Amino acid sequence: MARPTRTETVDALPTAYRAAIRRKLLGWYDRNRRDLPWRRRASDPYAQWVAEIMLQQTRVETVIDYYEPFLRRFPTVGALARADHDHVLKQWEGLGYYRRALGLHRAARLLHDRGGQVPDTAEALRELPGIGEYTSAAIASIAFNRREAAVDGNVARVLARLLGVHADVLSTEGKARIRDLAVQLVPVARPGEFNQAWMDLGSAVCTPKSPDCDRCPLQSPCVAATTGQADSLPVRNGKRRVVAVRVAVAVFVYRGRMLVRQRPTGGLWSGLWEFPNVDVATDPAASEAAVRGSSATGNGSRKTRSTACSASDRATLDAIEGLAQSEGVALAAPPSKVGTVSHALTHRALTFEVYECPVGKPSGAGAKRSGGWVTPAGFAKLSVSVAHRKVHTLFVKQSAD
Ligand code: ADE
Ligand code: SF4
Repeated sequence: MARPTRTETVDALPTAYRAAIRRKLLGWYDRNRRDLPWRRRASDPYAQWVAEIMLQQTRVETVIDYYEPFLRRFPTVGALARADHDHVLKQWEGLGYYRRALGLHRAARLLHDRGGQVPDTAEALRELPGIGEYTSAAIASIAFNRREAAVDGNVARVLARLLGVHADVLSTEGKARIRDLAVQLVPVARPGEFNQAWMDLGSAVCTPKSPDCDRCPLQSPCVAATTGQADSLPVRNGKRRVVAVRVAVAVFVYRGRMLVRQRPTGGLWSGLWEFPNVDVATDPAASEAAVRGSSATGNGSRKTRSTACSASDRATLDAIEGLAQSEGVALAAPPSKVGTVSHALTHRALTFEVYECPVGKPSGAGAKRSGGWVTPAGFAKLSVSVAHRKVHTLFVKQSAD
């Protein structure tokens, strides 16, 4: 006999229980919904699509600042499709996860070639770059009233508590179970608002650390609240691994100009400009705590000259020599350390060690291959990741001291 693809099936929730949850949750949403800019554009599928892409891995508060300016600049699929990728990136700058901008732009061009309509089913949406299961369900339900359940980490947390799911919500089994339950609950009428009601409840009431059950519209049907488990659910065993990475960053300087290069399209920070840099060490045992802070710390007046040398400084200086070679420039003086910049990504805690590296007159070949030499004002006009913006700020501040 063929093995079932899932190891666990979920009982059907009683019809009356489902109906009560829908009624209570939608009633609460009608009274408490957040006034978010994309909710004023619910009938514009393109606007929903842009919102859901921006909201991937990014907080609502952050997205709010970027959303309307982006739509003013690129108000339709056609406008986005016709735009220069550099302009799209510039508009995206600061939102992070720049692959999203690439996917959105590629998808807009695909759609534009096919007449400019945003696909109206979750299945068809999922064919587009940058759209996965969650995003396709969110767009299809919100913009097209499709009965699709959009389940992200926040919704999973609420559902695990509400329905008393004890499986690890990060495991395959736990995810399947939660998904099954979410699909059963989503109503035919108002599926988009129902999905967004979970999001609002998860952010205002059923929060990760201190769920406020006394203010929750679902308290009476909630398994966790009625059995005293609100603080112990959801179960999350699968720990996210975070790796600490040390990166040597060389600010090659010639007559007040700095050498910058453009990152390849597709990977991390796709298409953005940066100072030449290279990983020098990784530590897979890093704790999650290392990732929490994200800050720039100049080493103040304690400028470390390259002659003072620990083994790790040595490795960094060797790495910088290598960068000089690959960029086709020759160091005119020993690099001097400007400071460090920390930057947290989902799975990596980056520490940039920033060095000022005076170089001799650049040869044409090196400069051409890398991209170019820019003044601080020129740098300001480039699309740059938040991390390299911090590096630049540190560099300018320290050079001015
Ligand atoms: N997170 C992802 N999509 C969202 C939406 N439509 N509203 C609020 N938060 C969200
Ligand atoms: Fe979450 Fe408490 Fe509401 Fe249950 S009653 S859904 S645990 S806030």
